[in-house]
Amino acid sequence: MLLKDRVAIITGGARGIGRGIALKFADEGCSIAIADVRMAESKKTLAKILKKGREGLAIQCDVADSLNVHNMVDKVISKFGKVDILVNSAGIGPSPNSIADIPEDEWDKVLAVNLKGVFLCCKAVVPHMKEKRYGKIVNISSGAAISPPASLVHYTASKAGVLGMTYDMALELAPFSITVNTILPGPIRTEFWGNVVPPGKEDEFFTDFGKRLVPMQRVGTPEDIAGAALFLASDLSVFVTGEYINVGGGQPLHYQF
Ligand SMILES: NC(=O)c1ccc[n+]([C@@H]2O[C@H](COP(=O)([O-])OP(=O)(O)OC[C@H]3O[C@@H](n4cnc5c(N)ncnc54)[C@H](O)[C@@H]3O)[C@@H](O)[C@H]2O)c1
Repeated sequence: MLLKDRVAIITGGARGIGRGIALKFADEGCSIAIADVRMAESKKTLAKILKKGREGLAIQCDVADSLNVHNMVDKVISKFGKVDILVNSAGIGPSPNSIADIPEDEWDKVLAVNLKGVFLCCKAVVPHMKEKRYGKIVNISSGAAISPPASLVHYTASKAGVLGMTYDMALELAPFSITVNTILPGPIRTEFWGNVVPPGKEDEFFTDFGKRLVPMQRVGTPEDIAGAALFLASDLSVFVTGEYINVGGGQPLHYQF
């Protein structure tokens, strides 16, 4: 098992990509703390982790709130005594809109969760990782960071910001054997797309989207992201830091035919 006796915090682990990563890591021997605003779904994911014979916690935590984040990390340290892995998957996706029409408070909210949330969680775990001289930070950014879809300027800015943080933190933390890397997912079928997909038309929407826009002709699954996350969270990637990996079925390469 690649993560035997490791302890991971997974923000946004209640559902979607974060849940896929949590279940994959549990299969590999990892104890998991889910930090999410959705408690009911967090508890369901936790139940699956416990059923696999792993330990875990489901902690109510808004990643944009420094006190919430501080308390969440304290709980993890009290129970497990360490944090080996931090996966920053919590994120929100606003509806597409022209820059002229994006409300200022929507900009603030997107940046608070998607960018400041990553900052606060890293800030809270890094001292514990430094103490052990070991850590693996895996950020879930987006293909939008390098190949923006247009009309999502706040989302694109937040995800490009995560890439910038990745490079900076990787440099600072490399001497402590703490690696910091980022995954850029392409389109992944989760409830994240709720703002865009017509209700009841999910199958048609995702099939068409995949065929038209993804070189591999399909949208991805949380499990597709979990494989790359496992590589970056395990010692398979012990000498890899400050990198990003596109996991987008060929996106963001341009599909020409
Ligand atoms: N689904 C995609 O196509 C896609 C593509 C590129 C990037 N991403 C990124 O992947 C990450 C996960 O997306 P997903 O598809 O799993 O979405 P999702 O909506 O299914 O899951 C996101 C999770 O984050 C949690 N969350 C939201 N705000 C939070 C907050 N303030 N504090 C704590 N938890 C919070 C939600 O409760 C939810 O459990 C996001 O950062 C998203 O931007 C997704």
